[in-house]
Amino acid sequence: MTQAVKPDAAPLLRVGVVGVGVMGSNHARVLTGLPGAELVGVADPDVRQADFVARTLGCAALGGVDELLDLGVDAVTIAAPTHLHRDIALACIARGVHIMVEKPIASSVEEGREIITAARRADVTLMVGHVERFNPAVEAIKEALRNEDILSIAITRVGPFPPRMSNVGVVIDLAVHDIDLIRWFTDSEIVEVQPQLSSAVAEREDIALLQFRTASGVLAHINTNWLTPFKARQVTVATRGKYIMADLLTRQVTECFGFQPDGSYSMRHLSVGHAEPLRSELLAFLRAVRAGSAAAVTGEEGVASLEIAIRCLSHRPTATAAQRQAPRVVVG
Ligand SMILES: NC(=O)c1ccc[n+]([C@@H]2O[C@H](COP(=O)([O-])OP(=O)(O)OC[C@H]3O[C@@H](n4cnc5c(N)ncnc54)[C@H](O)[C@@H]3O)[C@@H](O)[C@H]2O)c1
Repeated sequence: MTQAVKPDAAPLLRVGVVGVGVMGSNHARVLTGLPGAELVGVADPDVRQADFVARTLGCAALGGVDELLDLGVDAVTIAAPTHLHRDIALACIARGVHIMVEKPIASSVEEGREIITAARRADVTLMVGHVERFNPAVEAIKEALRNEDILSIAITRVGPFPPRMSNVGVVIDLAVHDIDLIRWFTDSEIVEVQPQLSSAVAEREDIALLQFRTASGVLAHINTNWLTPFKARQVTVATRGKYIMADLLTRQVTECFGFQPDGSYSMRHLSVGHAEPLRSELLAFLRAVRAGSAAAVTGEEGVASLEIAIRCLSHRPTATAAQRQAPRVVVG
């Protein structure tokens, strides 16, 4: 399936994208510009959308994953709706095709594990699209945390309602990014969850305040909602020696350090790169495919983050607007 480019160059990887809506069309755009890869086709039952993306990028438009696989591809990225990830992933794995599955890996932990098992048996690369890890601001935080004793992490990920409501709430759609970051920053698993959820406007939870403790003893907090009129993505991390503040949108990362007994301290802005996170993520996927090495975000990590998100949802019932009591009236 691979084509030689130059005698001394690595063979071109033939890649495809399954599902070219909001996220998948970005995958397709980025893949066309990657060295060592050729975007062969995009598959989407929405024929107009598939045709539009294919015409724009100069590749084939297919109606479904089987037709795309029939073209002979080495690797695909899967950006179809989450409830289809398992079936599409298994179809690709059965044909020996390497896969990068968008986050969350699947609709359930069981489905995620099915994908992992099948990929391992077929010896194909499986990566999960937790793209935030490739945000240069996040990479700078991770680097600043090297050899630090992390004490607490607070992440805010808020914004307006998405233009098209999917069938998931903020925990599965947004908080799963930050659950992955907490696990990654701490190199530790989340062992305790204390979620507070509310459905203020939507049917599913649209506000979530989630608290965690990791096995390593780090306390972490996620504040996420779809009720904020603007997007905000902020991370703060307290370690014994530093206090790190990051804005993941402006990519400004600042650390306070050198704490003195008189309360004074030093402060510096960290150097942050400019790379497009999706490009870095897809390059990492293709590198893992070529090297046959573990992916930057493994299937197991995708399932671990999904499992915590689902635990938050099953912890206690979501308070709905109808169940809220009027504020206490203070007399006197
Ligand atoms: N990493 C991120 O930051 C991020 C951001 C957004 C979405 N996502 C994930 O990407 C996935 C897609 O989300 P989206 O917002 O792009 O959704 P979307 O609805 O915009 O796109 C999904 C596309 O999949 C197509 N599709 C439906 N059935 C299909 C099938 N059987 N085979 C192929 N394609 C099919 C739809 O026609 C649509 O074009 C979800 O898993 C979502 O969680 C990740």
